[in-house]
Amino acid sequence: MEQELRERFDFYAGRRDRSEQAVVVELLREVQEVCGCVPAELQREAARACGVPESLVAALVRRYPSLREARYRHEITACTGERCRGKGGFAVLEALRRELGVAAQGLSADGSVLLRTQNCLRHCGTAPNLLVDGEILPHVTPEQIPALVRKLRSS
Ligand code: FES
Repeated sequence: MEQELRERFDFYAGRRDRSEQAVVVELLREVQEVCGCVPAELQREAARACGVPESLVAALVRRYPSLREARYRHEITACTGERCRGKGGFAVLEALRRELGVAAQGLSADGSVLLRTQNCLRHCGTAPNLLVDGEILPHVTPEQIPALVRKLRSS
């Protein structure tokens, strides 16, 4: 795996268009193909190979849902949009952070769940919402969170 990654990084480092965003994403996708995810140390390598700031690579990994920073099993996106916030969405997010052991967003303490936030999940009519492994969970309450997290951890 090490050798395969090295070859890819070297190939991209030699490309004239290496710092273009689409090219950086292409490299990140290849890295993920090899490793199953794009952890922080490989994001650093990718930034070096493409001659772009690490912060840009980190932002791309966050922006593209197909790219993963770690091998987590589940992903929860909490809505931070106005309608959800107005209907108790922040309390839901706080409950998630507490239950998962995550300060703001990111990987849970046990590495099994990735918590993200998004400004409106486009289901405002059923606020507050969560997106759990790609499915909308409507009208969520903080009281539901411990059971939800338990269920995800056990599957
Ligand atoms: S504000 Fe939460 S879905 Fe729109």
